[in-house]
Amino acid sequence: MRSSPARRGQLRAAMARLIAMLVLGAGVVALDAAPAAAQPVSATRERVAVLGTGRVGAALGPRLAALGHPVIYGSREPQRADVQALVARSGSGASAAPIAEAVFRADWVLIALPWTATESTLRAVDLADKLVIDPTNALRFVPASGYMEMAVETSAAEHIRELAPRARLVKAFNTIGAHVMADPTAAGGPVTVPLAGDDVAAKRRVGALVRELGFEAQDLGPLRHARQLEGMALLYMVPLLKGPRSDVFEYHLRRGTAPVRSQGVRPAE
Ligand SMILES: NC(=O)c1ccc[n+]([C@@H]2O[C@H](COP(=O)([O-])OP(=O)(O)OC[C@H]3O[C@@H](n4cnc5c(N)ncnc54)[C@H](OP(=O)(O)O)[C@@H]3O)[C@@H](O)[C@H]2O)c1
Repeated sequence: MRSSPARRGQLRAAMARLIAMLVLGAGVVALDAAPAAAQPVSATRERVAVLGTGRVGAALGPRLAALGHPVIYGSREPQRADVQALVARSGSGASAAPIAEAVFRADWVLIALPWTATESTLRAVDLADKLVIDPTNALRFVPASGYMEMAVETSAAEHIRELAPRARLVKAFNTIGAHVMADPTAAGGPVTVPLAGDDVAAKRRVGALVRELGFEAQDLGPLRHARQLEGMALLYMVPLLKGPRSDVFEYHLRRGTAPVRSQGVRPAE
């Protein structure tokens, strides 16, 4: 008996969900796997503390909640009306708490804080063994030029590692705008989220999350490469600061090909 196209579509979707559950459950997600549909996979997903309720927190928090993660917004004023509205927008599993409590209750932590507030905030919390996602950019505006410049010699991520050496830290989401975090289709095409980190398992898990959220993930190596990723954020800002608006762009890395006969990489002279 032949099934209808609608029935075949339902079966394909059910099969895709089953495969996603098996792969995520086993924790063996390859970074170059195909993007997965953004839908809840299980009711027992990691609790995520989203520190900060500004543009990034309000963009990614509800989307993490939509994937089935109980989200705890860490805020200086958890009872404030706009924070409570964000909680309500994030579904029944969401809540808000002072920052230290949010971190304590969470498995994962997303640092959606201004760089200038990050150090003092993180000094007051214990991030040991938490998977920490760092989208921050240590940039400052230079009025004389109208451009941004790096505010530190290394990177925000490396400063965070000094503050929280036992955190499972992954640099991610720092090269895309909050409007694209909230809605990847706003980019008008595929978007790559580059990742850097020294904990390979944590980086893989964040890569899987990135794909669930509708982006492509590209592992760009150790945490020290966060310097270059934060440099990418600096460049991302150029058309936003100087225009024209038609020059606004998104980062999308396409797969290339390796040379057939590689001569290897020579050490710098
Ligand atoms: N905006 C973007 O498009 C974008 C894109 C990529 C990366 N980033 C990076 O992501 C991080 C967050 O950016 P954002 O645009 O979400 O920042 P934002 O809109 O200014 O929000 C930051 C939030 O952090 C909390 N906060 C805690 N201490 C603070 C303090 N001393 N001053 C101000 N806010 C404080 C606030 O939440 P409570 O009031 O609830 O405490 C505030 O809403 C930054 O490091 C930024 O570089 C931003």
